[in-house]
Amino acid sequence: MMDTGRSPVTVIGLGAMGQALAAAFLRAGHPTTVWNRTAAKAEPLVAEGAVRAETVAEAVEAASLVVVCVLDYPAVRAVLEPVAAKLSGRVLVNVTNGTAQEARSTAEWAAGLGAEYVDGGIMAIPPVIGSPEAVILYSGSREAFDKHADALATWGTSRFLGSDAGLAALHDLALLSAMYGMFAGVNNAIAMVRTEKVTAVEFTESLLMPWLNSMVAVLPMLAEEVDSGAEISHERKLVEQVALANIIETAATQGVAPDVIAPIQSIKDHA
Ligand SMILES: NC(=O)c1ccc[n+]([C@@H]2O[C@H](COP(=O)([O-])OP(=O)(O)OC[C@H]3O[C@@H](n4cnc5c(N)ncnc54)[C@H](OP(=O)(O)O)[C@@H]3O)[C@@H](O)[C@H]2O)c1
Repeated sequence: MMDTGRSPVTVIGLGAMGQALAAAFLRAGHPTTVWNRTAAKAEPLVAEGAVRAETVAEAVEAASLVVVCVLDYPAVRAVLEPVAAKLSGRVLVNVTNGTAQEARSTAEWAAGLGAEYVDGGIMAIPPVIGSPEAVILYSGSREAFDKHADALATWGTSRFLGSDAGLAALHDLALLSAMYGMFAGVNNAIAMVRTEKVTAVEFTESLLMPWLNSMVAVLPMLAEEVDSGAEISHERKLVEQVALANIIETAATQGVAPDVIAPIQSIKDHA
């Protein structure tokens, strides 16, 4: 590796995301050590200049910034527990998807080892890593985050949310819940129109996207209503109830299961 003056970094976990993170470090000139359970996945990165550690211990020892990006938190622990003592004095940045509670208990575990801990939530897909559109949420040790802010900025736009290590996961999962809810509604909408031979592409481009964009535009107003605690008017509730009942009836008539919309109707009924 060339001496670029950039700090050495380690990436543990070279799935689709870990590979993208390591590649971004390499492009920015960071001497990058990598480790993955399935060693062959390191090969493309080694061709780009990464050093493949033979063991997790070797990977951890190679840098003061240790990034871990594996499937889930049990995998994080499975990989790092055996080398826990070596984390002392290092910064562990864990960008594995997990719950807020998992993040908090991992922060405590790291603190007990004398390591600084930053939890991360990646709001991007691997091809976007390395561009400003890739938003990465962080929480935990502010000092540790600041120490490595330049290196982390090579992945995209960093957003530090606070010293409670669970905050990044909380916000990450809240955003994902908005996304999954939207996709479920979108799939339902497409299923409805496809019963009349309208293609998903035609519907999406001509009507669905403009409609969803106009709905996104009302979100600030909705958020203000929520924060103000204002009651939704009786008239608006009635209009929503009629529309939801009509969606369910029309979907059923067209042969589409009500699974997505029926729970929304039941929530609105409770309200
Ligand atoms: N891909 C995305 O679009 C995306 C976006 C945002 C966040 N993320 C998050 O990033 C993390 C990694 O995602 P990914 O897309 O890279 O997943 P992936 O391609 O399926 O890779 C999973 C990684 O976890 C490793 N792993 C799983 N179980 C393990 C264990 N018990 N011990 C050691 N290593 C283990 C795998 O090692 P092997 O190669 O040996 O199987 C591999 O490196 C996840 O938490 C995911 O939610 C992904």
